[in-house]
Amino acid sequence: MSNDGVDSGRRMLLIGATAAVGAVGVVGAAVPFVRSWAPSAKAKAAGAPVEVDISQIQPGQRIVVKWRGVPVWIVHRTAEELAGLKKTNALVRDPESTDPQQPEYAKNQWRSIKPEYLVLVGICTHLGCSPLYVPEVGKLEPSWEGGFFCPCHGSKYDFSGRVYSGMPAPKNLVVPPYSYTGATVITIGVDKENPA
Ligand code: FES
Repeated sequence: MSNDGVDSGRRMLLIGATAAVGAVGVVGAAVPFVRSWAPSAKAKAAGAPVEVDISQIQPGQRIVVKWRGVPVWIVHRTAEELAGLKKTNALVRDPESTDPQQPEYAKNQWRSIKPEYLVLVGICTHLGCSPLYVPEVGKLEPSWEGGFFCPCHGSKYDFSGRVYSGMPAPKNLVVPPYSYTGATVITIGVDKENPA
């Protein structure tokens, strides 16, 4: 009888110790698991909004910034370039931007919040090449009003990223979400219109 008592006491002790080790083991295994799923600082930075001071972009100039691993173009269009968009209306596939290739606030004749500043994801909608910036009027053909040309398969886009009719690329270039977070500051990745 007394042996039974001792045995059952030791058994309880052993079960308790095993349970404790098991619990430690689970916690020990859970920490690296949680860590491996938490986004790293680098991953967070890669998806973060990008703030760009546009005050130094001269009329007719384009700059390229990186956002979420893709090139984003910011173009300071001149009055002539904006006027040229009226001429390309008849030449492009989706002149009214009916395809959802832009946020609502960029669904207008300029495809932008402020007419002079164009913001586009610089990736061709055909197979993903990065088109060239060709601002010179008449450079590609007599009716060329300036815009973007994809050398991979020859798709042409006008100065608001609208694809010309009959091109391999099926859609206009994408306008990313962006907002004005200062008089001359654009934040790419923040989907809120706040023209200052
Ligand atoms: S990838 Fe641009 S035309 Fe094919």
